[in-house]
Formats: sequence, C-alpha cells, structure tokens
Amino acid sequence: MDTKKICNRNDEEWGDFVTRYETILENTAIQSSVILYSVANAKDYLRVCEVGVGCGLAARMFVTGIMKKGATYFASDLADGMNKSFTEGFKSSDLALNPKIKYEWIEEAKDVDVSDYVEKEERGIERRIFHLKANNEKLPYSDEVFDCYLSSLSLNLVDNHKNQLSECFRVLQKGAVAGFTVLGRIEKCNYVTLVPEVIQSLGHEIKPITTHKHPAHLGDRKALENDFREAGFSSVKSYYTNINFILKDQLDLYKFMADAPPTKHFFENLDDEQMEEFMTEYKKQYNERFGLETSDPLEWEILVVIAIK
Ligand SMILES: C[S@@+](CC[C@H](N)C(=O)[O-])C[C@H]1O[C@@H](n2cnc3c(N)ncnc32)[C@H](O)[C@@H]1O
Repeated sequence: MDTKKICNRNDEEWGDFVTRYETILENTAIQSSVILYSVANAKDYLRVCEVGVGCGLAARMFVTGIMKKGATYFASDLADGMNKSFTEGFKSSDLALNPKIKYEWIEEAKDVDVSDYVEKEERGIERRIFHLKANNEKLPYSDEVFDCYLSSLSLNLVDNHKNQLSECFRVLQKGAVAGFTVLGRIEKCNYVTLVPEVIQSLGHEIKPITTHKHPAHLGDRKALENDFREAGFSSVKSYYTNINFILKDQLDLYKFMADAPPTKHFFENLDDEQMEEFMTEYKKQYNERFGLETSDPLEWEILVVIAIK
C-alpha cells in the first residue's frame, strides 16, 4: 500500500475518502473548529487565513455567524477532492443566495497578493471568502498580511509540521493570533485505536506506516509548545480537550477505518471468512465498550494551541 498517497490526501483515492469524511467525521471535527474560532477570537479579525479547511462545514458556519462584517477570509486546502466539496457545499448553501457575501475560487494560486484582494472595495459586499489550493507548508501569500491564522486538525498530517509553523509565522502580522488543533494523546483517542485493537486481539499484525508519521505524533503538549517558540511565537498557550462522538451506527467507525491507513491494508487482504470473524469480534467489542447499554462515548482528544506572533 502507498500510505503516503493516502496521507497526502491529494490523489484519486481521496475522492472516496472525502465522502467518508463528510458523512462520518466532519460532524465531529466541527467541534475542533468551533473551539478555535472561539479561543482565537476569530470574530474580531479582518484578515483571516484558515488552512486545511477540508469540505467546509466549519467554514460555512464561520461565515454565517462568526466572521466580522468587513472581513476577508482566505480558506485553503491541498486536496482537490476536499476543495471541490468545499465549493459545492458553499454554492448549494443559503450563503450563495446572500448578496452581501462573496465567494471566489482563486485559480492558479501562486504569489497571492492578499492586500490587493482585501483593499479592493466591492459595493454592498460585507464578507468575502477567497478559496484556493495551497500546501500548509508553503503558502502562496505575501509576508505579514493576516491578523488571524487557523488550522484545525491538519498540522499533524503535513510532511513536516515545522514548515507549517514557520509559514504561519511568516504570513502573520506582528501581534496577530494563530490557533491550531492537532490529534491529542493516542491513548485518549479510542476511536483511532479500537479497530486496530480488535485486529490485534484476533492475533493479526498491523504493519506500521513507514512512509508517514502517525497522525497522533504531535500529541505531546510541551514538545509542541517548544516548536512554536522555536518558530518565533512570543506567547504560546495550550490545553487538551475532548471532541468525543457517539455514533448512530456502530459500523460507521469500521467503514472509516477500513479506508484509512494503516488498517486499510489489513482489510484489503481478508477473505470472506476472515472478514466475518473480524466483524463478529468488532461488533462484540464495540457493543461492550460503546454500545447503547454503556455510558461511554468514543473518545477523541485534541490538543489546542493558541500563539501570538
Ligand atoms: C482532518 S481534515 C480537517 C479538515 C477541516 N479542518 C475539519 O476540521 O473538518 C485534514 C485536512 O487537512 C488537509 N491537508 C492535509 N495535508 C495538507 C497539507 N500539506 N496542506 C494543506 N492541507 C492539508 C486535508 O486535505 C484535509 O482536508
């Protein structure tokens, strides 16, 4: 399996993953975005940059109820599948009918002069959204142009998170705020560990991802705070919190993990009998730990970091 392809979220397979993300995870991930909009005080800023925006449920919520009148919002993601879904979601929402809101996709997003876009007054428009394809590790914007930068659950997915931190620092004005969330401590994220645990309890081995870092590799709070300070941020605050979820259908978690590295590889190699064996054990363990008769939700811990340049 080429896990790098999947982790980069920017290939044909991602098309499939987008649907799973939208139907299973986005409704939970939105909690992380709300936390960021709140603790970063995103409502107060005029030049907001959000990276790794995904399919856009959170972005639509931000524009609808939080974004400041007169503000400009630059939203980007590396994955074509995600960007397509963002555009479609925006255009089919009520936001598209609001004449005071303008959405624009920036094609060929290289050397984007943010001030040019911001300063272009448009009569009757109160909130502007510019959407583009961009890698968090190398943003196309000029230096020191934003007063707020947000990144919900993508810093832990990029090839080198230090590149993303230094890009964030570069595009922010002095005194501006940056808000990040990443996956928390792996032992506090049982929605990630449950399926691998079931696989292992049946005596199977899961090969670790060798081409990419584990998505929970930034879960150490003090180590990550240090990376922010090294990138130049003057004030750094962080805390763990949970964005747990309660699934309506126990199979949703399996469906998501069956498509995610490294468990995808395991399921690809199962014959019918082995699959049945897995399913029986999965349902048993799921019901014992998180079924309707239990009081525990599936646990998803995130680490929130708020930093000032
Ligand atoms: C877990 S999703 C989070 C999406 C959205 N922020 C949310 O909370 O629903 C991670 C997102 O990061 C994007 N991503 C991963 N690596 C990236 C990179 N190097 N540059 C930009 N986006 C990236 C993925 O395409 C995906 O949309």
